[in-house]
Formats: sequence, C-alpha cells, structure tokens
Amino acid sequence: MQKSMIQVQNLCKKYADLQAVQDISFEIYEGEIFSLLGPNGAGKTTTISMLSTLLKPTSGDALIDGHSILKDPIAVRKTIGVVPQEIALYGALTAMENLNFWGKMYDLQGKELSSQMDHILHQIGLWDRRKEKVDTYSGGMKRRLNIGVGLLHQPKVLFMDEPTVGIDPQSRRNILDAVLDLNKNGMTIIYTTHYMEEAQELSHRVGIIDHGQLIAKGSQDELNKLVGSHSALRLHVPETQSAELLAEQLAKKSFCIKASATDHQVLLMVDNPEAALPAVITSCNEAGYRLRSVDIEEPNLESVFLHLTGRALRD
Ligand SMILES: Nc1ncnc2c1ncn2[C@@H]1O[C@H](COP(=O)(O)OP(=O)(O)O)[C@@H](O)[C@H]1O
Ligand SMILES: [Mg+2]
Repeated sequence: MQKSMIQVQNLCKKYADLQAVQDISFEIYEGEIFSLLGPNGAGKTTTISMLSTLLKPTSGDALIDGHSILKDPIAVRKTIGVVPQEIALYGALTAMENLNFWGKMYDLQGKELSSQMDHILHQIGLWDRRKEKVDTYSGGMKRRLNIGVGLLHQPKVLFMDEPTVGIDPQSRRNILDAVLDLNKNGMTIIYTTHYMEEAQELSHRVGIIDHGQLIAKGSQDELNKLVGSHSALRLHVPETQSAELLAEQLAKKSFCIKASATDHQVLLMVDNPEAALPAVITSCNEAGYRLRSVDIEEPNLESVFLHLTGRALRD
C-alpha cells in the first residue's frame, strides 16, 4: 500500500473578481513526482504558495504528511522544502553565506548545518564556486543554489515552481537530473512547469491545470487515453507565413477535430492521420502554404491539453 503524502482538498483562491485557483483536489503518494502542468497564469504558483503556507486559501485545506496547512502550518513548514519561482538569494553574499543564512532560518546550526551545507554544495555542483558572490553566477547556477536552499533542512517533500525557466540547456539538464536523483532517494516532489517535455520526463503522475482548474489528472498513459483514437499532426509552417491564419483555415475542414497554432507550427487533431494527411496537404497548398514538414505524433501531454482545451500548451 502506498502511503498518502499530500491530500489537497477543494483548494480555492480568489483575488477580487479573479478565481485564481478553483476547487482543486488531488492526492500524492510518498515517493512520487507529481507535475502540475499548465500555461502561464494557470494558477500553479498560487497553488504552490497555498500548499507551502505562504498564502492563505480562500477555502479548502490540504494535508501534508498528515499536517493541515491551516491548522498546523509550522509542522507543514518542517516537512516541506520550497524552491520558489522567483530566485530568493542575496547577490552580495557567497553560496556558503546564503546557505548559512537560510540554514539558520530553518533552525540549523553548528556541525549539522556545516555538514549539510557541504553535502548540498556537492549535490548541486557548486562546491568549487562556493566562496564566490552569487552576483557573479550564471542564471543556471543561481537556480541550482535556489534548489540547494530548499533542501537544507532535509525535507520529506519538495515543491519546485518552474525551476528551469530562462536557463541554458545544460543547467536545465542538471536540474532535471537532480530532481530524478532526489526522487530516487525517496523524496516526494511537486514540480510545476509549462514545458510538456519536462512533465513527460519526470512525472509519475500529472495534473493539468488551466484557468485555475485541475482539468485532468493521472498517469501519462491514463491521460493519453483521454485523446481516444485521435492523433496529432504537427505542421511546420515557414517563418514568413502565419501559423495562426493556417490554423483558422484548417479548423473549418471536415478532417479537423481541433487546430491550434504555436510558434511556426500548427498542431492539428485528426481522426486517422494517415488517411487525413493528403487532404491536409492539399488544404495547405490551396491556402498558399508550403509546409516545411509534417510530424505524426503519438498522443502526448501536448495533445491531451489540446484535446481538453482546444488550445496549444505553448505560449
Ligand atoms: N497577488 C495577486 N493579486 C491578483 N491576482 C493575482 C495575484 N497573484 C496571481 N494572480 C493572478 O492569478 C492567476 C494565477 O497566477 P499564478 O498562480 O501566478 O499562475 P502560474 O504560476 O500558473 O503562471 C493569474 O491570472 C494571475 O494574474
Ligand atoms: Mg508561476
């Protein structure tokens, strides 16, 4: 029997007229990586902020390792580590000084703190740079140190809010490997992202969030089944032509179930891709488009999102 580590119960957050998080419920088991996948503004940070007791819910509750975020926020804070979306470091201090500062905030001191700091500096690959000021670090190094801070008090559960936004591919790889590594050693992780590929690689289960609502949740196989027998075609449009206009044109055709434009691509949901392909190409030619290429895609989280919302996940 898997142990339940997080139970989110009808969580809501309202800002004036805006329902930023609407009645979200889900459960996470010990040792899972659960991704909250959704576009910008979907409500990911608001959800994480409530679960990490930084923001008071309008209604609803959550239990983290049995502790209520409303009734026992201090116990919750001891159980969780938080890697916020916005980097929370002092640029004028070194990595060691930052870890030391945050460690004291977590009530760590003496030998325990210094051995934990050494361990983390090795773990996040910053040991050699530990005595340099954070202001001299690359974006990826700052992100890694931000993660290190979240690990200082050896939490059972780690919340990571879009930890790879705006960094180079190598740093991203380092961070994804660190997430997998932490999880292999037993940590339960909630990971938010708007990158389908990251959710796909990391997660045991995924919750898809849009406009504050959790519109689907499950393992990737379960979510892929939502798309049913439909398949996605990805049309690569020349950069000189508008993918949006092509998506509008194709949406009117009988072969099209859904069409959505992303950067120079149209994602098209059809019933039978092999059968539809000639008609798709003819329609593109008639509309004056010379496609660069077409991919037939297996169902993935992007097509699940398109299927559920009619929109592509990418900005
Ligand atoms: N402090 C706030 N006051 C008013 N609206 C907010 C505040 N914080 C977030 N929002 C709004 O709530 C919605 C969800 O935001 P957020 O949780 O940051 O989304 P995400 O992290 O998925 O990009 C957005 O529409 C955002 O503009
Ligand atoms: Mg956010």
